[in-house]
Amino acid sequence: MKDMEAIIAKTRNFVKAALEHDASGHDWWHIVRVARSAKLLAGLEGGDPYVCELAALLHDIADEKLNVSKEAGLRRVEDWLAEIGVDASTSETVMLIVSTMSYGGGGGAPMETIEGKVVQDADRLDAIGAIAAARTFVYSGWKGRLIYDPYVRPRASMTKEEYRSGKDTAINHFYEKLLKLKALLNTESARMLAEERHAYMLRYLEAFDREWELGNPDYL
Ligand code: ADP
Ligand code: NI
Repeated sequence: MKDMEAIIAKTRNFVKAALEHDASGHDWWHIVRVARSAKLLAGLEGGDPYVCELAALLHDIADEKLNVSKEAGLRRVEDWLAEIGVDASTSETVMLIVSTMSYGGGGGAPMETIEGKVVQDADRLDAIGAIAAARTFVYSGWKGRLIYDPYVRPRASMTKEEYRSGKDTAINHFYEKLLKLKALLNTESARMLAEERHAYMLRYLEAFDREWELGNPDYL
């Protein structure tokens, strides 16, 4: 028990130091929200809360976007788990979770363990709702993209050429990913929590459209 507490405490410090200044929407507070939701979902759905918290804390340390490659990211997590003496079986489960939980267009293999389902849902819940909208605008700015382009009708998927030519706006990301997440959740508890957040995003997009119409009378 003491061991587990020490491992969680050390890992918190490690992740906090690594992501404290992240400006891509994957900052330390994202990790805190995901870890908290993962513990909540583990309580509701079953699943080892220690494994869930450890995987939630480490999930974005491995993220491809924040490392030179996917392999380099995963190695960072693996090295950390070895360094602090996490047992082989826990380490294996955590590695399996962090290596397979990314959205990747929504077509990834389903999570095998309940801990994997819970942590993936916790991460996805943070991509649905009001905070998710803020994260999307921050990420888009981090990438140097536009808020919205009225010449590009928002839609669920774009061609590679369109991505290359910068048509991938923040608003488009709602249609491309955020609005699809509710249907991809693994657990009933996460689906319940997602309901209000999803509805809020729809209201937000309606308000955005209304303001856009008002702000651009006959200018185009
Ligand atoms: P996952 O870890 O599930 O693969 P990501 O790390 O790709 O998810 O995305 C996490 C959040 O970052 C998204 O929910 C969104 O808010 C933001 N984000 C990711 N990709 C984009 C994008 N192309 N445009 C705007 N926001 C994005
Ligand atoms: Ni995440």
